[in-house]
Amino acid sequence: MSERRQHWNRHYQAETANYPLPALVLQQNQHLLPKHGEALDLASGLGANALLLAERGLQTQAWDISDAALVKLLIEAERRRLKLVTQQRDVTVAPPASASFDVIVVSHFLNRGLCSYITKALKPGGLLFYQTFCRLKRGNDGPKNPQFLLNDNELLDLFSTLLPRVYREEALLGDTEHGWRNRAMLVAEKIGEDK
Ligand SMILES: C[S@@+](CC[C@H](N)C(=O)[O-])C[C@H]1O[C@@H](n2cnc3c(N)ncnc32)[C@H](O)[C@@H]1O
Repeated sequence: MSERRQHWNRHYQAETANYPLPALVLQQNQHLLPKHGEALDLASGLGANALLLAERGLQTQAWDISDAALVKLLIEAERRRLKLVTQQRDVTVAPPASASFDVIVVSHFLNRGLCSYITKALKPGGLLFYQTFCRLKRGNDGPKNPQFLLNDNELLDLFSTLLPRVYREEALLGDTEHGWRNRAMLVAEKIGEDK
């Protein structure tokens, strides 16, 4: 078993808090979701995004390197009487196939090398919902390693071939006690086929 898988399994085995909520990018923009189609919660963890996608009637898959997280997700899905498919998968080794999903959600996971695969994995007209931590943040929220933190506007650059429909990133402007800080969110649409 890889070190990364062991690390995340330990994390999820230890977790005792309440079931997490879906990422705000999905909660706030769920009205943009199609009525039908195939959806992926990539690096899902406990799969709060996947549960929302399944609840909205999408055929949903949740992929994560941690089987411990996915076991908990399946129990929660059954409790809520929702159908979804989980897959223990290292997405850096096995990224999603081209044109395989109508919706992809990624929250609090950043691997820049994967972004072109995510773009390709969307079907024409498909939607990406992405939310993760920024370098410009207040307090200790989120990872410390800059490798896992976004630069200014970086989500727009990483998915520059998609059409942005929603983007939010407040950096440290104004009164940082208020607003939505520390993260950036993007909803973007794939127009047409890959070149
Ligand atoms: C910070 S958690 C975020 C989980 C969830 N998306 C959320 O927003 O709560 C990062 C997740 O990425 C998963 N992960 C890390 N490396 C991965 C990889 N190479 N392939 C698939 N999942 C991975 C971890 O197991 C963990 O569940």
